[in-house]
Amino acid sequence: MGGREEEEGGEEYLFKIVLIGESAVGKSNLLSRFARNEFDNNSKATIGVEFQTQVVEIDGKEIKAQIWDTAGQERFRAVTSAYYRGAVGALIVYDITRRSSFDSIKRWLDELSTVARMVVGNKCDLENIRDVSVEEGKSLAEEEDLFFMETSALESTNVQTAFEVVIREIY
Ligand code: GTP
Ligand code: MG
Repeated sequence: MGGREEEEGGEEYLFKIVLIGESAVGKSNLLSRFARNEFDNNSKATIGVEFQTQVVEIDGKEIKAQIWDTAGQERFRAVTSAYYRGAVGALIVYDITRRSSFDSIKRWLDELSTVARMVVGNKCDLENIRDVSVEEGKSLAEEEDLFFMETSALESTNVQTAFEVVIREIY
């Protein structure tokens, strides 16, 4: 019965969203927090690309978000950029405690032409060792006409909202 419903349009919407940004900024943990409400203090660097499908309800409609978590390490760059194709949304993530991860945001933006893009400053729980101010994040996003949000995968701050804003913009 359920299968039949699905065939008849229960899953009209399938959106591909990519998570990109330097290694160790917290992309995989943002996804695991969003999809499974899990956080891993000792998560291993992603190899290549992994994806997860998450059903989100927006305005009473079920939307399937296929979220592609890419490896931030330089040596995977050629592989991961191949996966940007077909993406309609992107979360470009940096770590608020590491300026170099913020400085590289623009480089990633150049490679993307998705509809909905959000700049995400992750690890906002680490206020005491902050290296990039909220204002800097905001103004970069304004310059490039993107959404902006600071998140914490550790404390669950704004994680749901960040994904939902992107999905809503596509939908
Ligand atoms: P790559 O797969 O190599 O591209 O890295 P990644 O961006 O997926 O980073 P990952 O999610 O593996 O997290 C890297 C480290 O940061 C891990 O030790 C996490 O536990 C930690 N981390 C992730 N998100 C947060 C956060 O919001 N706050 C804090 N304090 N630590 C975090
Ligand atoms: Mg990862």
